[in-house]
Amino acid sequence: MNLKEKYGRTAMIAGASEGIGAAFATCLAAEAMDLVLIARRLEPLQQLADLLESKYKVNVICISCDLSGTNAALQIEKALNGREISLLVYNAALSYIGPFIKNSAVEHSQAAQINMITPLNMVRLYGEKMLAKGKGAVILMTSLAGLQGSGFLSVYAATKSFNRILAESLWYEWKNSGVDIIGCCAGATATPGFKSTCPEKTGFFTPRGLEPEEVARECLKKLGKQPSFITGRGNRIASFIMQKILPRKMAINIMGDTTRKMYRL
Ligand SMILES: NC(=O)c1ccc[n+]([C@@H]2O[C@H](COP(=O)([O-])OP(=O)(O)OC[C@H]3O[C@@H](n4cnc5c(N)ncnc54)[C@H](OP(=O)(O)O)[C@@H]3O)[C@@H](O)[C@H]2O)c1
Repeated sequence: MNLKEKYGRTAMIAGASEGIGAAFATCLAAEAMDLVLIARRLEPLQQLADLLESKYKVNVICISCDLSGTNAALQIEKALNGREISLLVYNAALSYIGPFIKNSAVEHSQAAQINMITPLNMVRLYGEKMLAKGKGAVILMTSLAGLQGSGFLSVYAATKSFNRILAESLWYEWKNSGVDIIGCCAGATATPGFKSTCPEKTGFFTPRGLEPEEVARECLKKLGKQPSFITGRGNRIASFIMQKILPRKMAINIMGDTTRKMYRL
């Protein structure tokens, strides 16, 4: 059974215009799913929509929405105008790199809103409809940074941990409902957003960045099979060492030291 047969006709990707979000959009269009693409900038979204519509003969609608807004989920629901969502990918995130006190309380709240509150509201809204129908799927993007304390990525790491735990908890609650949910725990991925931070390679714990398409493909393969997973073999090995072999204090130190070196802090 393909994804469209299993979950339904339309996939919605929040944070879809580039990187991992665009890769999900491409993979899902290749599965003949219609798409709802969300980001702030309409122009790159529309370019992607045109490409996917002509290549895969699917219908794509684009919604411009700032996911850090407190009413983002309702704004999207209104723009959908009753359209049913069968698969939700919540991909967008805001990440501040640097000392916790460098960013204002307002900036931290904005990160919490886009990374935790808006996905929480969207999962509540669309999860309920999927459960009522007895089918559907949700993908929440999370990160290796969220597996332990990650100095200089503190708020981002904490919000990503929230998404992993939320996905795993709902996986348990929903496992016999026909609705699948997975936390996709990515490591470094060569997206425009990641490249724009100009990270430096620092050693074993900074494995080769995956391509966004590898992340999306692997995630769609694992959807329905596990509560969460770590993308890429290199990331899984590094994470096994960090989580299962090293003392937690050492893992936290390695993570913080790696980030400090990567970003020359
Ligand atoms: N890249 C990595 O190395 C990496 C590693 C681990 C985990 N992840 C996770 O993977 C996900 C995707 O990462 P990424 O690097 O591909 O992309 P990203 O830079 O986090 O997001 C890119 C997409 O999200 C949209 N977006 C950003 N802020 C938005 C906002 N306030 N409202 C609406 N849309 C917004 C962008 O379009 P607009 O700018 O037009 O809004 C763009 O389409 C994130 O959840 C991230 O935490 C990434």
